[in-house]
Amino acid sequence: MLLGTQRVNDRGHLEIGGCDTAELAAQFGTPLYVMDEATIRANCQRYVTAFEKRYPGESLVTYAGKAFLVQAMARLVDEEGLSLDVAAGGELYTALTADFPAERILFHGNNKSDWEIRMGVQASVGRFVVDNFYELRRLDAMAGEAGRVQPILLRVTPGIDPHTHRRIRTGQEDTKFGINISDGAAMEAIQEALILPNIKLLGIHCHIGSQLLDTKSHEDAIDVMVEFLASIKAHTGVAVEELNIGGGLGVRYLESQNPPSYETFADIICGTLEKAFERHGVTPPRLLQEPGRALVAEAGTTLYTLGPIKKVNIVEDPGYRYYVSVDGGMSDNPRPQLYDSVYSAMVANRAGQPRDRVVTIAGKHCETDILIWDINIGDTDIGDILAVQTTGAYNHAMASNYNRFLRPTVVFVNEGQADVVYERENLDDVIKQDRIPVRLKK
Ligand code: LLP
Repeated sequence: MLLGTQRVNDRGHLEIGGCDTAELAAQFGTPLYVMDEATIRANCQRYVTAFEKRYPGESLVTYAGKAFLVQAMARLVDEEGLSLDVAAGGELYTALTADFPAERILFHGNNKSDWEIRMGVQASVGRFVVDNFYELRRLDAMAGEAGRVQPILLRVTPGIDPHTHRRIRTGQEDTKFGINISDGAAMEAIQEALILPNIKLLGIHCHIGSQLLDTKSHEDAIDVMVEFLASIKAHTGVAVEELNIGGGLGVRYLESQNPPSYETFADIICGTLEKAFERHGVTPPRLLQEPGRALVAEAGTTLYTLGPIKKVNIVEDPGYRYYVSVDGGMSDNPRPQLYDSVYSAMVANRAGQPRDRVVTIAGKHCETDILIWDINIGDTDIGDILAVQTTGAYNHAMASNYNRFLRPTVVFVNEGQADVVYERENLDDVIKQDRIPVRLKK
């Protein structure tokens, strides 16, 4: 499986964005996150075009920054003309300090603190996505103090249970996110939002889940959401302008996975929307979406240096297991631990070699942090470079300092050039926030 601009060059090395990955590892050290800039840009453009061509009204694509956000990424998203979804004050600050236009920012979060609400209002972000009644009233008050009328979307829960890992489901009724439609609470919130003086209700939002490999749950959610648009009109006389259906489109972690292409996804989503608009007598509102993973996951590859290899006898066939350790692990990729996520990998400096040896890739944390169980990658030796694919989403973003590891460098590669967009932390960064009370000083 080769993704984006990945290819095997004539030295038999994996190349990404025209850069030899063995050279990248030597130049920047490992672990190293490599982001394929041309692929991210192409993904943004293709996603936007797929919907512009098919949706009968205006369509806005909002990149979900939670998947991967550094200032350079905010710049890239701005250049590509997409909007940006931020889920917390730190993401908002990253975007604002990278000069991302505030009017194209959507501010999410199920428990926004006062300082976050204030930062969003003062920056004049384009839309708050309001999660609950408390936030609605708090935002109204704080927008009033700032002399601003804040545009919002109301996050509602359509009651759809998507088929994905239980920890990344959000559309079902039993969730911490949003306000339920089925018990009438969402309609009450709409009515309240419409009369609050410092709030402008633009529309409704839902997000049902992540890494969805088919469109079934989106189709079900659309039906509920469009019906809800019709009942808002019936109850209040107001035809709200916007419908945001969140993100969630899945990607390939394994060659055997087959998520819908953006074009197929757009065909099905727009077809389902049009039918629902017709059935419920709704004029097509502006359509908003928030893809995160689908735009960046396959554009990311993590490079590790291989360390010791251990052969261990096991009861099951074939009677032994090779543990190959890498110089990172759950601090740079917690997803296998959290969601039993699976990954593909290859030996980057022997990318063309036959794959005739099954090994298990182990991290170097003080835990059983297995990154990949039983993967066929062929011969390996200490010092080889391992490339783990599809790590562009929710890897750097979820990295930690567990065991006081240093968060790795991130580079953007493009046409043979590699630029650092996140600098590897150093040992002084690790102790930067530590304070020793006087009574404990030596
Ligand atoms: N919009 C909202 C409101 C969301 O909650 C999310 C993801 C997205 C958009 C983007 O979803 P995407 O297109 O990336 O599926 N850490 C987990 C994924 C958590 C997703 C949380 N919300 C993982 O590593 O799989």
